[in-house]
Amino acid sequence: MSTVLQAHRDACDALLTRALGERSCEPELAAAIGYAVLAPGKRLRPALVRLANQCIGGELQDADAPAAAVEMIHAFSLVHDDLPALDNDDLRRGRPTLHRHTDEATAILAGDAMPMLAMKLLAHTSNGPAMCNVLAEATLRMIEGQMMDMAAEREALAIDEQNLRALQAGKTGALLVAAVELGALSAKASTPQIEALTAWANHLGQLFQLTDDLLDATASSETMGKRTGKDEGKSKLTGVRVYGLAGLRDRIQTCRQDALDALQMFGPEAADLRLLTQEMADRSH
Ligand code: IPE
Ligand code: IPE
Ligand code: MG
Ligand code: MG
Ligand code: MG
Repeated sequence: MSTVLQAHRDACDALLTRALGERSCEPELAAAIGYAVLAPGKRLRPALVRLANQCIGGELQDADAPAAAVEMIHAFSLVHDDLPALDNDDLRRGRPTLHRHTDEATAILAGDAMPMLAMKLLAHTSNGPAMCNVLAEATLRMIEGQMMDMAAEREALAIDEQNLRALQAGKTGALLVAAVELGALSAKASTPQIEALTAWANHLGQLFQLTDDLLDATASSETMGKRTGKDEGKSKLTGVRVYGLAGLRDRIQTCRQDALDALQMFGPEAADLRLLTQEMADRSH
């Protein structure tokens, strides 16, 4: 487990629990949303909001709403990603996927509700319109990335590095970049600070999805808490397919260096961002 993520974990769980209490939903819907959002994930995206806020020296409580909002969008993306029409998975975060735990209709509707809860959280912040725009745009880019993922699976997309980068920047990178941008906005960062942090997050997003692809091919379902070894059988466009295993490991190291280089304008205030970069490049689950 990453020491940086571990340090933010309890605070992320607490702010998510609080955020879910702000809009009471019909009981079955609320139970389904709580099952998906509060399941034991790594909490990378809310931690990124907090880390960006801290790097700029903001008031940490101003990161609470965007941290909860971005994790709700992520949880929605996982619920829908696991549906039979998409990746058809039955294990997520060490538990049955939401559609296995309840039923497909409930999982679809819970997934529909989560982004609306996220937007309501941001609407109530002092910087509401700007934050809603950042998160809505990133969510659209995530969905566009998922469309590319499905197109590749249908063999309607060329298997090359350019398409891989666009697909991963969408399905995974966009939300990581948004998390960092929202954290920076919550701390009233300057434009050059936002540019440096989002450049870092772009490289981190590539690194993170490439390690996800690597672990799908090399790690066990038990350590990952989700089925592994499934991308290859589905002819997905992945880092393993484009680079091969050895080439993929090299590419991850290049992304790590690019990410660290993007932080050059910062001093010790970015120490946790540097450590997280290293930990995500080395992760085994
Ligand atoms: C899984 O994301 C989906 C990808 C974008 C690779 P995470 O690996 O962050 O999943 P959780 O939140 O820890 O479950
Ligand atoms: C999922 O990518 C990305 C999103 C949920 C947007 P994957 O399909 O590779 O994620 P896992 O491996 O199921 O977590
Ligand atoms: Mg998928
Ligand atoms: Mg999947
Ligand atoms: Mg995967």
